[in-house]
Parts: sequence; structure tokens; C-alpha cells
Amino acid sequence: MIEQNIPIHVAIIMDGNGRWAKAHNKSRSYGHRAGSENVINIVEACGELNIKYLTLYAFSTENWKRPEEEKKALFRLLKEFYKKEIKRLISNNILVKHIGDISLFPKDTIKTIEETEKETLEKCKNPILTVVLALNYGFRDELKNAVKNICYEVKNNKIDIENIDENFIQNYLYTKDMPDPDLIIRTSGEARLSNFLMYQASYSELYFTDILWPDFSKEDFKKAIEEYSNRNRRYGGL
Ligand code: FPP
Repeated sequence: MIEQNIPIHVAIIMDGNGRWAKAHNKSRSYGHRAGSENVINIVEACGELNIKYLTLYAFSTENWKRPEEEKKALFRLLKEFYKKEIKRLISNNILVKHIGDISLFPKDTIKTIEETEKETLEKCKNPILTVVLALNYGFRDELKNAVKNICYEVKNNKIDIENIDENFIQNYLYTKDMPDPDLIIRTSGEARLSNFLMYQASYSELYFTDILWPDFSKEDFKKAIEEYSNRNRRYGGL
């Protein structure tokens, strides 16, 4: 059992569903289903390790380029996840929220996401864990929105440009109420961040594994946390 230097916030790029499906002679949607079923294992592991925030990259601003059928399957899975898992998450005092602009998602998916998040917010006053789903999220889009909103404030004389510092910028990001990720994990052998939390990742530790997301087990996750707990974070100091 790892007890020291547990990260407060872990973020995951859940990659490899498509390759997993191909290896099993199944459709890409089947791979996404297997991937979504794995989410709960990792949520459980976070609870066991006392990790406070888990952010999952579930749909990026670039994923709109995928075939209609695959996007539909992803929206369906998201809706199912919110509908099916919510009771269990609430009864375990876990809060669910999202970052990203879901306004272009199908209406029924938006409704389910909004209702569920409202319910968890009302019931989980003191959550043991917050699960954050990145939905139609991309850092460049997040930055664009932040810059626009800051410009509006300047234009309306609400802020003095001289007062803009790093803490100020933080307040205009989707992640304003959350600590930066301590650890970012990417599965499936790809070693890049793909527009995920680029500002927030400034001092994150990165962990890449060849394991495909549907196969990334609780034990694999705990191994990543153990490796993190042995790293020496210096934040540019000595
Ligand atoms: C990347 O695999 C994964 C995604 C684009 C979506 C992630 C979605 C899930 C895990 C399922 C839905 C999530 C929840 C929370 C219910 P890929 O398709 O790019 O894989 P490949 O690179 O092998 O093709």
C-alpha cells in the first residue's frame, strides 16, 4: 500500500480503445464501451488511495472529426455512464462534474449531464473524490474563452490590466476551482498531451504506458501512483 506522496489530482488521457477493439475483432464502439466500463475501476482505485480529483479526457475538441457513428456511440456511453453510475457515486460521496463546452452535444445527453451534476452537487456537500469529465474539452479552446472573457472585463472597465497575474488568469479557466494535476497518465504508448490541460500541466509529472485503456487495471493504476510517489518534484528549484 502506497501511503506517502499520493497525488491530490490525477488526470488521464484514456487512449487505445480503437486498437483494443481491433485486436479483439470488434467495432470501435465496442472498444469505447470496454473503455467506459473501465472508468469505474479507476474511480474505485482513487477512492482507495485517497486521491481527491480524477480528471478524464472523454471527448476532445478534435474528436468531432470522427465518423458520425462513433461520435453517437460516445454520446450514448456518456449518457449511460451518467445515468447508470450516478447512484453508486453519490452513495460513495463522489462528486461528478465536467469541464469543456457541452452545448453542441445531443440535447438528451446535455440534459442527463446537467441533471446528474446538479443532483450530485446537492447531495455531495463534502465529497471524498471529485471526478471531472473533460467533454468537448481542448486547451486552445479554453484559452480562447479565457482571453475573450478577460477582454470583455477590460472593455467594460471591470478590471485593471496591471492586476492581471497568474492567479487572475487561473480564475478564467474551466479548472478555476481545482488544483493543477500532479500526475498525468496516458495509456496506449502515445507520448503527447494532445491539447489536454496544457496550462495546468506546467509542473505535472507525466506517466506513459503501452497498456491500452480498456486493459489498464486498478493494479496498473496503482503502479503509476507508486512510481509518482517516488519522484522528486522540484518545481524549478533545487
Ligand atoms: C481514445 O481512444 C479514447 C477516446 C477518444 C474517448 C474516450 C472515451 C471513453 C473511455 C468512453 C466514454 C467515457 C466515459 C467516461 C463514459 P481511441 O479511440 O483514440 O483509440 P485508438 O487510438 O486506439 O484508435
